[in-house]
This record gives sequence, C-alpha cells and structure tokens, in this order.
Amino acid sequence: MEYILIIGAKSELAKNIADIYASKGYSLYLTGRDIQSLSKFSETLVSNYGVNVKLINLDLNQYDTHKTFLKELETLPLGIICATGYYPNQLKAQIETNEMLNSMTANLIGPVSIINYLVEKMSRIKKGFIVGISSISGERGRKKNYIYGSAKSGFTTFLSGLRNDLFDQNIHVMTVILGFISDGTESSFIKKMLSTKPRDVAETIVLNQTKCKDVIYVKWYWRYIMFFIKNIPEFIFKRMDIK
Ligand SMILES: NC(=O)c1ccc[n+]([C@@H]2O[C@H](COP(=O)([O-])OP(=O)(O)OC[C@H]3O[C@@H](n4cnc5c(N)ncnc54)[C@H](OP(=O)(O)O)[C@@H]3O)[C@@H](O)[C@H]2O)c1
Repeated sequence: MEYILIIGAKSELAKNIADIYASKGYSLYLTGRDIQSLSKFSETLVSNYGVNVKLINLDLNQYDTHKTFLKELETLPLGIICATGYYPNQLKAQIETNEMLNSMTANLIGPVSIINYLVEKMSRIKKGFIVGISSISGERGRKKNYIYGSAKSGFTTFLSGLRNDLFDQNIHVMTVILGFISDGTESSFIKKMLSTKPRDVAETIVLNQTKCKDVIYVKWYWRYIMFFIKNIPEFIFKRMDIK
C-alpha cells in the first residue's frame, strides 16, 4: 500500500485532500500539532476506504525533531503534501520577533527543513511527488501582509528550485498558488466571489497532481489577476493600497 504524507493535516483543506487520496486507496501519514484530535476523522477514513492512517505529532517550531520525525514513517511516502501555514497579524509581526518567526517557520523554514530530509531519501528510489501549498500573497509584497507574503514567496522559490533539481530524478514537484479559501463567513461580495470551498480546492490540487502540473493557481483566474498585479510598475504600486 502506498502512503501519502500530509504535513499540516488539521485544516479543512488538508482533511479534504486526505479524504480524496484515501478514496483512491492511498494510506496516509497525517502530521500536525496535537494530531490526536484527528482520531475520529482518521477512523472514518479507515472504515470508509480500508486504508491505513497513522497520526504523527509534528510541531514545526521544534527544529530538533525534524530529522527524527522520519523514523515515524514505516515506509517512505510516495507523495508529500505540505499544507502548513500561519497568517500572522502583520503589525504585530513587524515588532514582535516571535509572531514573525511563527509565520516564517510554518510557511517556509519548517516545510523546507522537512522536505529536505525527505528528498534525501526519495532521491535514492527516484520516484514520488511533492506538492507545496503557497499563496498569491507570495507573488508581490503588499503592506497588508508582507511578512506572510515574504515567507510564501520564499516557499514558492524553494519549490521552483526543487522542481528543477529533482526533474532528472523522476520526482515531480507541484506548486499551488492559492487564492482565498472560503470559510463561509466572507462579508464582502468580491471576497465571496473570489473564494473557493476547501473541497473544490482539494479536488483541483489532487487532479492536477495526477496530471503532473508544475504550477497551478487555484482558482485558475488568479493567474491572470496576479499577472496584472505583478506588472503594475513599482512607482505606481508603492502608492497603492491593495487589500
Ligand atoms: N485560508 C486561505 O484563504 C489561504 C489562502 C492562500 C493560501 N493558504 C495556504 O493554504 C494552506 C492551508 O490554509 P488553511 O487556511 O486551510 O489552513 P490553516 O487553518 O491556516 O492551517 C494551517 C495548518 O498549519 C498548521 N501549522 C501552523 N503552524 C504550525 C507549526 N508550527 N507546526 C505544525 N503545524 C503548524 C496548523 O496546525 P494547528 O492546527 O496546530 O495550528 C494547521 O493545521 C496554508 O499553507 C495556507 O498558508 C490559505
């Protein structure tokens, strides 16, 4: 039975991704802080799909556990989905190192560290895939959220380099540039229009992973919105207040 490892498995999006891979017959390693809170969810996956699900505690802030965490994996996973993230309070993150570091760790440093250790092992068998969930906020820095954005930007760049590095080794790397996930509480009409339900995002991610796509925007229209935003000249952009 092949395994998929989901790093940061507690969000609605990650749970939907887990459900879809389980429905395709893949067993799962699900990681997160206080991961036992997913016990009921994992029992449901086991009974619905007859797969194995192993819950593994992993706090990305605990750097010294990143390497030893690999010992928890009985077999090397075929695929890795990295779905961790932390959206900090921008103003707080500008003056409080811990708030800034929490964002850097959840969005960039932690995922890079874990993926690096896994890649070392995957390279030996020359097969597998890695999906990293990044954000449109990483496409161009805005005053609203540039601490988060810079971490996601770094992650997007890491994934690009990794894809280039692993191409010859038959390991596929897909970057997900995600727009807004709907949590059902969007107040503005525009936000509602541009938000996507976690299940739809999950289905898009898994479908495109099976098609071996390199970089996807979810939803697709974000590719064009971000193309436009990235091409606004800097002398104009610096005066703007894009929410
Ligand atoms: N929500 C959006 O509109 C949106 C937009 C663009 C991109 N994204 C990205 O999409 C992904 C999923 O987003 P989401 O909003 O559905 O998820 P979320 O609710 O922000 O959850 C992210 C996950 O990351 C985990 N996490 C955070 N810090 C961690 C740490 N130090 N160690 C281990 N796990 C940690 C959280 O675990 P705990 O439950 O333990 O905190 C949680 O399971 C993230 O990468 C996010 O940045 C989201």
